[in-house]
Amino acid sequence: MGVHADLKLVDHDEDGVDLAFRADVLSGLAEPQKAIPARWFYDRTGSELFEQITALPEYYPTRTETALLARHGAEFARLVGRGRAVVEFGSGSSVKTPLLLRAIDAAAYVPIDISGDFLRASAAELAADFPDLPIMPVEANFMKPVRLPASVRGMDMLGFFPGSTIGNMVPHSAVDLLRSMRETLGDCARLLIGFDRMKDVARLIPAYDDAQGVTARFNLNLLERINRELRGDIPVARFRHVARWNAQWNRIEMHLEASEDLHFEIAGQPVFLRRGETIHTENSHKYTPDQARLMLQASGWTPQAQWTDEADNFLIVLAQATEPRSAP
Ligand code: AVI
Repeated sequence: MGVHADLKLVDHDEDGVDLAFRADVLSGLAEPQKAIPARWFYDRTGSELFEQITALPEYYPTRTETALLARHGAEFARLVGRGRAVVEFGSGSSVKTPLLLRAIDAAAYVPIDISGDFLRASAAELAADFPDLPIMPVEANFMKPVRLPASVRGMDMLGFFPGSTIGNMVPHSAVDLLRSMRETLGDCARLLIGFDRMKDVARLIPAYDDAQGVTARFNLNLLERINRELRGDIPVARFRHVARWNAQWNRIEMHLEASEDLHFEIAGQPVFLRRGETIHTENSHKYTPDQARLMLQASGWTPQAQWTDEADNFLIVLAQATEPRSAP
């Protein structure tokens, strides 16, 4: 079957500049607390650096979730049935995605991602291992409802959102996303979703500030990307990677801190930072199981089953689309 032509939904100007990227960067840097949405980390270099992060000794989420997926595949198949179309929000991991596709004997696979290059590369890699599986990548921002390829509409869907990527959104955006996933996937859909659990902050900080400096390079690559793609002249070496815990919001925050007063330009617009000022680049929320389930319920998903590891590090929840009904 192989990889089908993907649907391109991303707007670029005549110079190939991603207009949404430029708008997010310029508006985010005009805020009192400068901020750039974390989704812009994932150009090709950023996606490769993230793959490296997932193998770091300090970064426990990926290996914990992968072990859960490997261990409980038979239960997923029993609960969701075989032959669903798997719609993955994100371009897919070479390890986790095959575990799920095999466990439930998927009828089709639709990965959705904003990073088109990485999406196509990982879809092609997967096609080599699943020659009979129709694979239909969709290049899109999945924060909004996505129109799925015609050939999977009408199939029963299983949404897959691993990695605690939901944790990269503030709660109201997470709820918006879960609601739009429900709209994308339809009434009979199920959702298999991973949540990183609340734990000792002394374990969380090194997971986001590793000894080898890979997470620092991942964070700083965002500035390199702005320089490459948006005609920026940011002095990247004058920024420092910072990971800190925000106890009010139960989240790790990543920032880029200016080591001196700085002045640079992006797409012709001037930007100033004082020494010590930061650009906030990522939130990574951590959840108790109760919080995770409540967020799903608040977004039109009814939790059905959940799995966690012996050390209570990570949680996978299977949910079904809540039936729309009005009373009581
Ligand atoms: C993709 N996301 C769930 C990762 C996380 O843990 O929040 C991104 C990441 N940022 C730094 N390390 C990993």
